[in-house]
Amino acid sequence: MLEPLHPLLRQAFDPERFLRLGEQVLQDTFKHLQDSQGRTREKSMPWTPPEDEKSFWEARLDAPEGLVDLLRLVADRSNGLQDPRYMGHQVAVPFPDGALVGLVTDLLNNGGAIYEMGPTNSAMEEVLMARIGQMMGLPAGCGGILCHGGTLANLVALLAARRKVNHGGADVWNDGDDGRGAVLVSNQAHYCVDRAVRIMGWGAEGVGLVDTDDQHRITPSGLETAMQDMNKKGRRVVAVVGSSCTTSSGAFDDLELVADFAEQHGLWFHVDGAHGAPAAFSARHKHLLSGMERADSVAMDFHKIMGLPALCTGLFFRQQEMSFLPFTQSAEYLWSDAEDPEWWNFGKRTFECTKRMLSTRVAAVLEEYGPEIWGVLVDRLFGLGKELAERIEARSGGGWQLAMEPEGNIVCFRYLPRDFKDTNAENAFTQLLRQRHLEEGPQYMVQTRFDGKVWLRCTLMNPLTEPQDMAGLLDRIEELAQEL
Ligand SMILES: Cc1ncc(COP(=O)(O)O)c(C=O)c1O
Repeated sequence: MLEPLHPLLRQAFDPERFLRLGEQVLQDTFKHLQDSQGRTREKSMPWTPPEDEKSFWEARLDAPEGLVDLLRLVADRSNGLQDPRYMGHQVAVPFPDGALVGLVTDLLNNGGAIYEMGPTNSAMEEVLMARIGQMMGLPAGCGGILCHGGTLANLVALLAARRKVNHGGADVWNDGDDGRGAVLVSNQAHYCVDRAVRIMGWGAEGVGLVDTDDQHRITPSGLETAMQDMNKKGRRVVAVVGSSCTTSSGAFDDLELVADFAEQHGLWFHVDGAHGAPAAFSARHKHLLSGMERADSVAMDFHKIMGLPALCTGLFFRQQEMSFLPFTQSAEYLWSDAEDPEWWNFGKRTFECTKRMLSTRVAAVLEEYGPEIWGVLVDRLFGLGKELAERIEARSGGGWQLAMEPEGNIVCFRYLPRDFKDTNAENAFTQLLRQRHLEEGPQYMVQTRFDGKVWLRCTLMNPLTEPQDMAGLLDRIEELAQEL
């Protein structure tokens, strides 16, 4: 005989309890937002060494004190993106509304592999991908999918490229290929393109790294040389990827150049716009993406400079039908015909089976603010990038170096207050300086390495950052450098 419902399960599903907890959590979240925006937290990133943090959680998880207390601790100990002194990695400072969307969609928990498990999100996804694609300048008839991250979107785009271009004539989906395919991409590109190529079984040699100029943009001769190199090695290049922009230094490839090259060689043209494609929403900055409208596919992260919580990425295809290229999966328990391009069963087009209700997140922004907010956000963040660069240049002469003029919101620089023996010593000093700053704050910045040099790196992600925060950062760097 079936046992009665266990009291723990009754408690877990009790609506009254949910409301009580929810009111408290909402109050606490409101306070976190206020404190963060008011810069009253001691540091934007409350650094603890990994082993200490692990010990803390070992102790805490041995002595639980309930959800409200747990969430307070998590908020206090987490990297504070909502703090205007956050100037680190490329993760969105989410519009707080996103947390409200999460509240509802996490409770509804509709999947998206098949229409009947998520009718609202599937239908919205189809509409939004076509509309947003066109807002970005892609041709009428474009479409695509939402997925969990730029890394995954880039892989799926390259799977489509392999199927479409298919120089080897193989039925790749059913028989695999001979492992001799290749992709051309900037030597400054995000590592996920390299990873995708290796996942596809083409190995390290399947990535043709294209030389870049002193601004880290793909060059015409770099493309030609990389192509010749691949041909010599007996590789079939199927795609060329333009970076909009590169991760480390924020360089936007010349997409017209890449599009011309792709056209000339019959290649799939993919744009990794995970970070920079939202510039399409800004009248002031969309010129950085000129040529993107010729792409076969574009990846754009809504969880970078579009203000959505992670992860939410759009993978757009020039024609909606192209989004069916990556997979042809039989799954009798989900759909009856693998070949039928039913737009409503998104699992046919996405790597994921279950995925979150991503389209509701995107729709929420449009409902409240319209697409203008993305242009306004881009303008603000890119404006902050320029402002920081100008402030660094204004200090130059005293050991400040700007790696390059930023085109967007990624700014790389160094501070070397004295002469060092060689580049290694400069790099060691910069690394030490960044570590001290990480430990002591109060701002948050990161570091990178290119052209043999270690650089301090800021991505201006928080639109509430003000010039005073940047001045504070630069002063703090000078202060710490004196102490080292
Ligand atoms: C250009 C570029 N592509 C891809 C990615 C990976 O995206 P995700 O972190 O969403 O997987 C990043 C992340 O920083 C990026 O900058």
